[in-house]
Amino acid sequence: MRRDPHSYADDSQVETASIALRATVDFATRTLAGDVQLVFATPGGGPLDLDTRDLTIERVVGPAGELPFTLHPAEPVLGARLAIELPAATPWVRVHYRTSPDAAALQWLEPAQTAGGVHPFLFSQCQAIHARSVVPLQDTPRIRIRYQAELTIPRALTAVMAARRLDVTPAGDHAIARFEMPQPIPPYLFALAVGDLAARDVGPRSQVWAEPAMLERAAREFADVERMIAAAEELFGPYDWERFDLLTMPPSFPYGGMENPRLTFVTPTVIAGDKSLVSVIVHELAHSWTGNLVTNANAEHFWLNEGFTVYAERRLLEVLYGADFAALHAAIGRSALDEAFARFRDRPELTHLRTRLAGVDPDEVFSLVPYEKGYSFLCALEQAAGRDAFTAWLRSYLRDFRFRSLATEDFVAHLEAALPGALARVDARAWLDGPGLPPSAPSPRSARLSAIEALGTALPPADASAWSPAEWQLYLARMPRPAPAETLRALDTRLTASTNFEVLVAWLQLALESGYHAVVPRASEVLASVGRMKYLRPLYVALAKDPATRTTARELFARSSASYHPIARQVIEGVLSARS
Ligand code: BES
Ligand code: ZN
Repeated sequence: MRRDPHSYADDSQVETASIALRATVDFATRTLAGDVQLVFATPGGGPLDLDTRDLTIERVVGPAGELPFTLHPAEPVLGARLAIELPAATPWVRVHYRTSPDAAALQWLEPAQTAGGVHPFLFSQCQAIHARSVVPLQDTPRIRIRYQAELTIPRALTAVMAARRLDVTPAGDHAIARFEMPQPIPPYLFALAVGDLAARDVGPRSQVWAEPAMLERAAREFADVERMIAAAEELFGPYDWERFDLLTMPPSFPYGGMENPRLTFVTPTVIAGDKSLVSVIVHELAHSWTGNLVTNANAEHFWLNEGFTVYAERRLLEVLYGADFAALHAAIGRSALDEAFARFRDRPELTHLRTRLAGVDPDEVFSLVPYEKGYSFLCALEQAAGRDAFTAWLRSYLRDFRFRSLATEDFVAHLEAALPGALARVDARAWLDGPGLPPSAPSPRSARLSAIEALGTALPPADASAWSPAEWQLYLARMPRPAPAETLRALDTRLTASTNFEVLVAWLQLALESGYHAVVPRASEVLASVGRMKYLRPLYVALAKDPATRTTARELFARSSASYHPIARQVIEGVLSARS
């Protein structure tokens, strides 16, 4: 039976336990070419269905030689099913293949798109369902795999993976870099990057990787990572992945951060120079427990990954930076949640925590609902059970399900056994299977928060020069649209030159949504230089909504889309065509 709407993996077939990948990274043809051996948990025979997307399959072999296979035509969301027929008791298969230059998970950057400007760069982004465009496999998080990898790369470059680095062997003008991933991972956590990279230690189990031109600034920004890991271990239990390294990505990275195990990928837009955006690192670190250790069984239970991680992130922010700081972030999150509800006005079923996604592309419906509604739900449960009891339950949940994948029902059963009645007290059905926010949803509270909320559309007060970036963000997010002209002019003077991307984009969004066109050049600069979807989407939506800037939106996209990651390109294409 197929149990993940986004995978051909069938639980009546053999299950992959580990894979061994050998691939040559060729920047000239923009392909990975090589072979992958899939080793099964238990030898078996009969049909085996693998997920692929835009792969060229050359041969499939088993221990006894060549095996027959069929690569079926691609389906819209799923990709192409690779059907292999296994003789009885087959312990492994090896697939010889190459990727497409358009592989959805891979972005191949020209030297001009990097900080150094001299060498090309390659990176992967496999979540949610793009691992299949890099490796033919059972691409469902229900199945966990260990792996080994051997990447042949240009000798001048460095390869990194979300894995343990073994060694690098020069071979002419190439080098072979070997890795092994001892902890079993869902396929979406497979990750690699190749470029002109250097590393610096920032803690006993952490180093920061970046292009040499960025390394100093990145290492300074992320210097507190050991303090974060220690705080997380205190709250959630031992860190199970040995190392927590960070890779500073090129600006086209489509996310803020990606929790690739042992090596979090992070957008350079978090390097504000004053550590003010490091909550992204705290978030990705928290995934080491919620998401990577305890994993959603498929994208319909995505809130188990992200809602739990936002909850864990804010518990950590409270320990690290205080309750006011955590409350500010919660309030910013609540504003973003209201925005997401508005986006899904006509598709309220996408605002359930437990979603139904057969035939639906996870990238297309990605939103902050699983993050912020999930967070709010867990806060409601915390209030119903009391913080101490809830924290004790959370630790037991993380311990009991470690290195496993689960569905919403598994969470419900576990919580009900430990804290009987808590789910009923918060009306869990309404949270999980109903739209929007239940009226009883708790609201973030703090003195700083109330002071900013009281301002409404008023001009920023004189003491705003002392505001933290989070306070600015909240003030901007809560401003009704269109904002008064006088307020917009005052904000223009203060914020258009901001180098804090969260503040800058919140301001540009408010200005564009208020028809304040003086910011169009600055917004255009952002859209031409950054590929983080969190920034692209609201700015493109605002530009495309306003008849006066609609053409600008199209022209900008035409000019910049080649430099966006394939996933971002597709998402923004969807945004623009929905408004034509
Ligand atoms: N795992 C996500 C990123 C992701 C989600 C990639 C779904 C692909 C599909 C990551 O942990 C994340 O949530 N990133 C946020 C960070 C923020 C919430 C602090 C982002 O990119 O903005
Ligand atoms: Zn996350």
